[in-house]
Amino acid sequence: MGLAAAINLKVVHGEVVRLSRRRPATLLGSGAVEAFRELIAAEEIGLVVVDAPLTPVQQRNLERAWNCKVIDRTGLILEIFGERARTREGQLQVELAALTYQRSRLVRSWTHLERQRGGFGFLGGPGESQLEIDRRLISERITRIRRELEDVKRTRGLHRKARRRVPYPVVALVGYTNAGKSTLFNRLTRAQVMAEDMLFATLDPTMRSVRLPSGRDIILSDTVGFISDLPTDLIAAFRATLEEVQEADLVVHVRDVSHPETAAQKQDVLSVLQDLGIETGPEDGPIEALNKIDLLDAAAREQLIAHSRREPNQVPISAATGEGCAELLAAIDRRLAAARQVAEFRLGHDEGTAIAWLYDHGEVLGRHEDEAFSYLRVRLDPADLARFERLRARLNGANRHQQGPA
Ligand code: GTP
Repeated sequence: MGLAAAINLKVVHGEVVRLSRRRPATLLGSGAVEAFRELIAAEEIGLVVVDAPLTPVQQRNLERAWNCKVIDRTGLILEIFGERARTREGQLQVELAALTYQRSRLVRSWTHLERQRGGFGFLGGPGESQLEIDRRLISERITRIRRELEDVKRTRGLHRKARRRVPYPVVALVGYTNAGKSTLFNRLTRAQVMAEDMLFATLDPTMRSVRLPSGRDIILSDTVGFISDLPTDLIAAFRATLEEVQEADLVVHVRDVSHPETAAQKQDVLSVLQDLGIETGPEDGPIEALNKIDLLDAAAREQLIAHSRREPNQVPISAATGEGCAELLAAIDRRLAAARQVAEFRLGHDEGTAIAWLYDHGEVLGRHEDEAFSYLRVRLDPADLARFERLRARLNGANRHQQGPA
């Protein structure tokens, strides 16, 4: 249902149908097919989504019987992906998933036909059957897309390196679809990104810079939403879009704490993050943004707030009202600060620009002067340290005076 709402479908009717057995022709028994036909005509329904895998034959027969478009869950998700994919890579991944899905269905009906034909004794005749041709064309297209994806990924790697040269720490928002990532992203960045009541508003990562309370700039990255029971064929496409998360300096896990399955969702997200090699421990793992606290009743809300006071990595928020968002930014600040390194610099008195930069971007822990130099002990992000070295090299033509990190 939520999935259907994601592409602005208006759901007029939902029903659980018990199957005594799967009919090869229509999945449902003839009584059910007829009952739905009447309902579909009466309600003027244009699309039926069946939450079970349909064979192409079943899909076609149901479309004929009901006189409307029929898709299964994978088809629906592919529709959503198709509508949401913005970057070239996203589009290619969706197309790849759609073709793989189509090919698996062709193979199934093809072997089925082959068996039938074998029964008649004219197996192995010359020439390709139409299904063989379709299958070959799809396979060729898949090979082409894979190659193009490799190219796109390679250039994306370059882009990423380019971004690294402006080394703000990158903070990635992850979480279940509908948890409120886009809403939070918008609130924190005030950017004009889609924040409708839509799943997958964010198939491709979106990035914006945000200034933290300490004055430090970060890049906030909004990522694709997780979905429950994702069809196997689509998992690769999703994971690829999460590669950005591996590059992040910090992960913020946005959770919908008003959702009845919030605990199970959290485990899903953590296990995918673990697969991606991302730290998930209670101290070094993601910061949890416990979102939608405005939807909790007073008691549940108090309990959550009291509990999270003891957990520095959990911040109750409401992306909708803005409550807790300042605390979330402060928590991000703290975590990034903890990753800071202390470095000592010896700078010439003529290096006023570099000294000012250190005061702006780092925390100056100590300073003393002699006749020729200023000596500064500074706490800096690893990213800012690299940035400072480049800045200084540019200003001085070389790292003349630098002693490097302590
Ligand atoms: P995907 O883009 O599908 O991954 O979803 P998302 O995690 O980005 O969720 P999104 O920001 O689109 O929010 C989903 C729905 O939850 C929208 O209807 C939001 O208005 C609503 N929402 C988000 N945050 C809050 C909140 O703090 N409180 C309430 N009441 N609703 C919220």
